[in-house]
Parts: sequence; structure tokens; C-alpha cells
Amino acid sequence: MKTLIAYYSRTGNNKKIAEKLREKLGCDIDEIQEEGKPGLLKAGLSALLKKKTKIKTEKNPENYDLTVVVSPIWGGVITPAARTYLQENSDKIKEVAFLSVSGSGEENKKALEDFEKTIGKKTKAALLLKDKEEQEKKLEKFAEGLKD
Ligand SMILES: Cc1cc2nc3c(=O)[nH]c(=O)nc-3n(C[C@H](O)[C@H](O)[C@H](O)COP(=O)(O)O)c2cc1C
Repeated sequence: MKTLIAYYSRTGNNKKIAEKLREKLGCDIDEIQEEGKPGLLKAGLSALLKKKTKIKTEKNPENYDLTVVVSPIWGGVITPAARTYLQENSDKIKEVAFLSVSGSGEENKKALEDFEKTIGKKTKAALLLKDKEEQEKKLEKFAEGLKD
């Protein structure tokens, strides 16, 4: 199975977890880069309003069997950068999984619904981690599940 990890991270937490997952899967990784860096208020508001943004990536998910999208959760929904990525690549992504590090982790069930609705596909797997929790075991199990 050829896997791509595409991550967005503003302050580094999701970048860190994306890189740990890459070590476990030994796969390609790509950063979803947002053009410009809006201030916190604007970023949060754009997320709440489910706005799109301008992004730049390097790898084409069409060349992979599975794309793992990694992003924080803002205002209970996915970030504008992740939303834009899912919308722009919905026809290129074959299978999708969602990994996220956020303040309240699994309590953000609405964000998973938002994710699946945005791409129009069910996730193969999803893991919503908290900033402050023991992440390693859950990540290991998530990675194992992606290998099938
Ligand atoms: C504008 C904004 C809104 C946020 N809203 C939520 C939220 O609704 N739920 C939550 O669990 N965490 C929320 N957070 C916390 C982030 O998801 C969390 O700090 C995450 O680890 C940041 O990831 P990063 O370091 O990869 O950017 C919010 C953070 C920001 C900046």
C-alpha cells in the first residue's frame, strides 16, 4: 500500500505527530502550506465560517492508495487549509484517513463528520489526539490499522 501523509500545522503539534507517523509507516510526507499566515482571530473565524484558503503542496495524492490528512481542529471543525486540501483533491484521493492533535481530542466528533462531509468519503481510520495526553500507544495502533 502506497501511503502519503499530508499535514497542516500552525504551531508544530500536528507536524510532530505527522513525522512520527511517517517513521512508523516509512511513507512519503507533504506539507500543506498556507499562503500567508493570518492572525489567530482571523484564522479562527475563517475556520468557523468554513472558509477556504490558498494552499501549496508538492505531492499528488493520485499517486497513492491512501492519503492520511493531518491537521488541528479549530472552532470544532477542520482548518481552512485542510478543508481546501480535501476539496481540491477529493477526486484524486483514493482512500483517506484523518489524524489530528487538538485541545480536546476525541471530544471533537463534529470535526470528523465535517472532514468526511467535505471530502465526500468515509475515513479508513481516524484518530483525534489531545495536545496533552500519552499519544504513543494510540498512534502505534492507528499506524498498524493503516497497513492493511
Ligand atoms: C484559532 C484556534 C481555534 C482552536 N479551536 C479548537 C477547538 O475547537 N477544539 C480543540 O480541541 N482545540 C482547538 N484549538 C487548539 C488546537 O487544535 C491545538 O492547540 C493544536 O494542537 C494545534 O496544532 P498545531 O500546533 O499543529 O498548529 C484551537 C486553536 C486555534 C489556534
